[in-house]
Amino acid sequence: MREIEEKAVQAYRTRFEENPELVASAPGRINLIGEHTDYNGGFVLPCAIGHRVAVAAARGGVELYSSNFNETRTMSDERDSSWADYPRGVAWGFGEEGREVGGFRAAFAGDVPLGAGLSSSAAIEAASALALDALFGLGMGRKELAVLCQRAENEFVGVNSGIMDQYASLLCEEGAALLVDCRSLEAESVPLDLESAGLALLVCDTRVERGLADTGYNERRAACERAARTLGVEQLRDAGVEDLDRLSGEDLKRARHIVTENARVLEAVEALRTEDFCELGRLMYRSHASMRDDFEISTRELDAFVELAETTGVLGTRLTGAGFGGCAIAVVRTEETEALARRARETFAGCDFEEPVFYEFVPAAGAEVAR
Ligand code: GLA
Repeated sequence: MREIEEKAVQAYRTRFEENPELVASAPGRINLIGEHTDYNGGFVLPCAIGHRVAVAAARGGVELYSSNFNETRTMSDERDSSWADYPRGVAWGFGEEGREVGGFRAAFAGDVPLGAGLSSSAAIEAASALALDALFGLGMGRKELAVLCQRAENEFVGVNSGIMDQYASLLCEEGAALLVDCRSLEAESVPLDLESAGLALLVCDTRVERGLADTGYNERRAACERAARTLGVEQLRDAGVEDLDRLSGEDLKRARHIVTENARVLEAVEALRTEDFCELGRLMYRSHASMRDDFEISTRELDAFVELAETTGVLGTRLTGAGFGGCAIAVVRTEETEALARRARETFAGCDFEEPVFYEFVPAAGAEVAR
């Protein structure tokens, strides 16, 4: 059992004075490339990180305990804008699918940084969904569970996100990224062995908190939908660069990001298959430029990190996730990770930015049940 799973079990025992029936856990994610493409029916290439949310649970009862917040809440159909809305939303989602889950009690423990754009919310949803599916013997597939979690996030929690985070948390495999076609919902693991190539993945958390609800996320979504209508296509997935001259102004910029980003995801998959990490890096920089200039979701902190990396010869860097704050990722030579982190701390201090936090990781496993 992983340490975080042990922690959830311990929390369960302390809080409920009995043993749980099972423990499940699910990871946060980074996205290698393919940003804001998911709700346009396009492609994404996330991978799971080593930070997870674990839930220890048993049938019967209504109590939800979080060891991170050291508080108990109850299962109900009412929302209270707390962490408990995620397991509540998932239970609601099962009901909407016509799968009845009975009463349950659960204890949560997690180490996915909150509000950093590493999908702590998808991790708690995925862990809850897998735990409930196993507890009540529902036998649902991973993809169905991911769709259910997205529905919980959209309709119960009220955040209009795409399918990427839930898919990543439930379907990623160790040592691989996950190519998802967000229209057909087909997913395929693409091996990502940076270590043998002497490379590492570094996450730079700029500590600028981002919340999907109060950012331009919904505005970006609306602009993409508007551009698709103007072009007479169902989604921007169906548009090509040759269509873009029928758009202008902001809609042109937003659509150009989506159209070129979709192409970059497929090129990145090709680069991974041929282990051409220099090409992957180039695509990452181009993706970042497109998010900075066309989609306009970057921040001064993220741009400063990417610029520093580019000028010091780092293979590839880009912001990851929704943008408007949060994290950047870098594919960097293993021996250069510390120097990059040190220089970034210096640059940030010089600009009066928050001190960034760094995590190094290898692509981790998706959600799992341990009994
Ligand atoms: C957030 C959303 C995802 C996706 C990304 C941007 O993480 O939850 O669905 O849209 O932003 O790529």
